[in-house]
Amino acid sequence: MSSSDKKPQVRSVSILGTGSAVPDRVLTNHDLEALVDTSDDWIVARTGIRERRIADDKTAASDLATAAARRALESSGITADQLDTIVVCTVTADYQFPSTACLVQAAIGAPRAYCMDLAAACSGFLYGTEVARGLIGAGLANHVLVIGVEMLSKFMNWQDRGVCILFGDAAGAAIIGPHNGRGEILATYLGADGTSAELIELPAGGSRHPITHEAIDQQQHHFHMKGNEVFKLGVRGMEEACRRVLDRAGVTPADVSLLVPHQANTRIIDATAQRLELPPERVYLNIQKYGNTSAASVPLALDEARREGRLHEGDLVLMVAFGAGLTWGASLVRW
Ligand code: UT7
Repeated sequence: MSSSDKKPQVRSVSILGTGSAVPDRVLTNHDLEALVDTSDDWIVARTGIRERRIADDKTAASDLATAAARRALESSGITADQLDTIVVCTVTADYQFPSTACLVQAAIGAPRAYCMDLAAACSGFLYGTEVARGLIGAGLANHVLVIGVEMLSKFMNWQDRGVCILFGDAAGAAIIGPHNGRGEILATYLGADGTSAELIELPAGGSRHPITHEAIDQQQHHFHMKGNEVFKLGVRGMEEACRRVLDRAGVTPADVSLLVPHQANTRIIDATAQRLELPPERVYLNIQKYGNTSAASVPLALDEARREGRLHEGDLVLMVAFGAGLTWGASLVRW
């Protein structure tokens, strides 16, 4: 074998700690009944959601991201000045620029870290974690803070009952570093399909359609989704991502201890679990409390599962997500 045929040396990478944060304010399905033509029964039956958290006017994505980051640092034993990189995965940044990652860097005091935002919507945390794994694996960074944060309430049309009942605000974070005996990321699979980009979008506010009075009159500055089409693609995408990552790691669905899925809809999660023949006790759910929190969904669920004692040493933990872009992905961790 010539030297050019040799596989590059990569370091194994672990999740060293997790943290999360949600706003205090609870918006229940009954509260929504006063805003749109909906009912608690419909929302629970069609989505599994009972309530969600909504930030107040003064709170922005970086505030929740910072709170989650501090908790992740604490749980990992890493200090902010040890961070080499901060990746904030979000589609609801504080500003178009500067990046939310730079704002978090200033808030937590991580002067050595270079910072970037990453837009992969609900799949963001898995994308961000894979970027971290690549940097650490290649020896270009040691400790990377990856945050999934979303504040979709600020971009919501509170008259669109097909969308506004689904989403909540939250942040979840993880410290990723060289493998330390636990939490090893065994494999990740990521996918995207930009040909279906229009299925979930926020049309105005970018360079294609800058904000105008006309755009606002047409609700183009708000979140739009063709929920029914996304639903079908979501079930297929989540199953495919799970199967591919399990194949990459050389294991089967039967080996999975806990599925930690993107919390978009219990029917999507149930269908994915059924296709993989995973019983309900091996599927983590917190959608009833938070709704769909997009990029925060997977790290929030992972952090709650950890704090509830649902993750045991040696467990195979399968994270999976699907969302705007379209983007999707799955990651397998040996806890
Ligand atoms: O995280 C990013 C990825 N996003 C997702 O994964 C979301 C995927 N989609 C979904 O979760 C589901 O499509 C929804 C929960 C958004 C909608 O559920 P659905 O079973 O697909 O309902 P539908 O859109 O087919 O609507 C069925 C009926 C319609 O009435 P008609 O036309 O049959 O009379 C809707 O107008 O339900 C009606 N409807 C509602 N009724 C009461 C839609 N939203 C509501 C509502 N309350 N909030």
